[in-house]
Amino acid sequence: MALIEFRNVQKAFGEKVVYRDLNLDVNRGEALTIIGGSGQGKSVMLKMLIGLLSVDSGTIHFDGRRIDDLPEKEMANVRRRVQMLFQGAALFDSMSVYDNVAYGLREIGWKDRVRIRKKVEESLEMVGLSGRGGEWPSSLSSGMKKRVGLARAIAIEPDVLLYDEPTTGLDPNNISRICDLIVYMQEQLSVTSIVVTHDMPSAFRVSDRIAMIHEGYIVFSGTPADVVHSDDPAVKDFVEGNAPEDEDTNTLLRSAG
Ligand SMILES: Nc1ncnc2c1ncn2[C@@H]1O[C@H](COP(=O)(O)OP(=O)(O)OP(=O)(O)O)[C@@H](O)[C@H]1O
Ligand SMILES: [Mg+2]
Repeated sequence: MALIEFRNVQKAFGEKVVYRDLNLDVNRGEALTIIGGSGQGKSVMLKMLIGLLSVDSGTIHFDGRRIDDLPEKEMANVRRRVQMLFQGAALFDSMSVYDNVAYGLREIGWKDRVRIRKKVEESLEMVGLSGRGGEWPSSLSSGMKKRVGLARAIAIEPDVLLYDEPTTGLDPNNISRICDLIVYMQEQLSVTSIVVTHDMPSAFRVSDRIAMIHEGYIVFSGTPADVVHSDDPAVKDFVEGNAPEDEDTNTLLRSAG
């Protein structure tokens, strides 16, 4: 049984239909990337999964249990196991890096300061920000902010990491760094990852599988190599529209295909 299952999910905002019939399985331990144009519903999918948005009809199961109809209190338990790295990192500017990472631990009831310190330091180390706990979000680059957001997410030891556009707005070096971190978390923590992106090179780097959302449905799901060879017009358009020009990515594309 898949770890996460979306079945016949429909979702609209007034006249705007986002999902007509969403069916998607996410397997335990895989890194799945969701691609699709702006406004196709990628963020909405992640938000429905963690209960920040409700479904109109259909079901979502997590680890064998139906979760789309859970009361808020029980949903909090799901959110502990499914951590989301939001599109803009969503750090608290009034808190140090240290307290940002400790925040989630305190939320789930950790009180022992030594234990918290150890966990925060270990999490910062994993994202390459060892010893930077005393700094403030406002003094960090956007790449570093994303890494702090990731440290905060992994501190909780989740089963699933959701990344919403983790590389958008970053320069090539930081894009590489974040992609490497996604792969590293996947290997080191044995998490299941869902990565939302419209950046094809990033998708090729981090994914076991890629699924594409288009006009309310999953129109494609396959390996990175399958994406390159897909005849689906929406997939072709998307991949070609995002065709990378640089040498690095062309090598990646060739190795994927
Ligand atoms: N809370 C909301 N209220 C009303 N409409 C919403 C809400 N959230 C999303 N939408 C609409 O749902 C559609 C899908 O939005 P979503 O944010 O999931 O797109 P996306 O695929 O993540 O796009 P992007 O690549 O730009 O982030 C859009 O038309 C958006 O305007
Ligand atoms: Mg989005």
